[in-house]
Amino acid sequence: MTKKHKQNPKRKHYEIKFPRNFYWGTSMSAHQVEGQNIFNDWWEWEQKGKILNRQVSGDACNHYNLYKKDFAMMKNMHHSMHRLSIEWSRIEQTEGQFNKREIAHYRKVLLELKKDGIKPMVTLFHFTLPYWFLEQGGFLNPNGRKIFNRYVRRIVTELGDLVEYWITINEPYVYTNFSYWEGLWPPGEHSIIKFIKVLKELLHVHIDAYQIIKEVYRNNGWRNSQVGFAKSFVWFDPQNKRSIMGRAVARMYQYLYNKLYFKPFYTGRYSLLFGYGKIHNAKESLDFVGVNYYFRCACKFSVFKSPLHMRLHTDKTMERTLFNWEVFPDGLYYLLKLTYRKVKKPIFITENGISTLDDTQRISYIVRHLDAINRAMRDGVDIRGYLYWSFIDNFEWAEGYTQPFGLVAMNHRTFERIPKSSSQVYSEICKTGKVTDHMISKYAKRIKDRILR
Ligand code: BGC
Repeated sequence: MTKKHKQNPKRKHYEIKFPRNFYWGTSMSAHQVEGQNIFNDWWEWEQKGKILNRQVSGDACNHYNLYKKDFAMMKNMHHSMHRLSIEWSRIEQTEGQFNKREIAHYRKVLLELKKDGIKPMVTLFHFTLPYWFLEQGGFLNPNGRKIFNRYVRRIVTELGDLVEYWITINEPYVYTNFSYWEGLWPPGEHSIIKFIKVLKELLHVHIDAYQIIKEVYRNNGWRNSQVGFAKSFVWFDPQNKRSIMGRAVARMYQYLYNKLYFKPFYTGRYSLLFGYGKIHNAKESLDFVGVNYYFRCACKFSVFKSPLHMRLHTDKTMERTLFNWEVFPDGLYYLLKLTYRKVKKPIFITENGISTLDDTQRISYIVRHLDAINRAMRDGVDIRGYLYWSFIDNFEWAEGYTQPFGLVAMNHRTFERIPKSSSQVYSEICKTGKVTDHMISKYAKRIKDRILR
């Protein structure tokens, strides 16, 4: 026996425990899994050959028809929460005309989740817009917010009795970055001015949606709603730790990317990129923070390149995913602490996941990130749930079907679902609320080494 074991024998069996009421599950978005979302801006974009290998979303995972099967699998895997999105372009195929059949579809979807004992978390805008809305300028249109608000009011009125957790917007930075700055997503713009304009507008879109949801719940006498948005977080480090410029750039991105967007919600004021002055209602418009975290960026100074573009300049020695993203669980730990210290709201991990062909790497990724989350919780951060991205391999936007993030694989011809071994390990974690000593030793030995140190 080593000296260390003698000093602290209990530590030999180490497990990571989560509270009993912690939510476990997965995240998905409509366009990436449903299939045949023919009325949105992405569908149009895909037909123009803009996706890697000229792929199109097509039938995606046929989840629109197979949702019962998918939810039954989630239930068997002991999931207690599932994040999904409503496809606005199905609900309002032409401007101002709400489609009753599609609304009824989402009611059935939510009722099915309820039957399976899985709590829904519903996103109102996850990257896709009705094509007619984009044609009118999307959120650059001075009337855009009003039009979105009308959809929000309608959908919350129709479905609110079945939903407690709402996400208004998914990743405002990622959306505006790729759509208006880097031009990789529809409408394919390359304008920093438009990027900032839409990003600022989305702050208001969230605040309006928050107020509408609260009002609809009040008017209907429904139980409390919890409303937040999902923010993508990236940990930034300088590529060269000795470079003063590199360190300054990393700090700047840390501030601009991870902190700035939350400021209005605890100060009630705009800052920097967004101008100055008070924002009406901002301080009362956030019940929880949705944290989407995937990777670290090791950045170097580069004028006019977006922070997300920096991920291309990553440290060559680090573990990577198939997407070439750098695996860095400690980044999640730091960001959770930093965000909670400032925003002081409960947190859900609304996305965290890995695209890889090596399922053992996926298990290891999950275990290591759960360890980071657990450490933050032990340091006092109020974290309520973990939603792995994603349940099933799906349509990964500009990269099409080349990035397998799922716990479950799929046969693209038959739509047969094929669970990977990661789904079994994750299911065991969801069932017991524990990452066992065996899992840590097998998949994340470095955690054990750290504990024993
Ligand atoms: C998005 C998902 C996407 C995932 C993996 C997040 O930015 O919300 O839609 O599939 O990351 O790239």
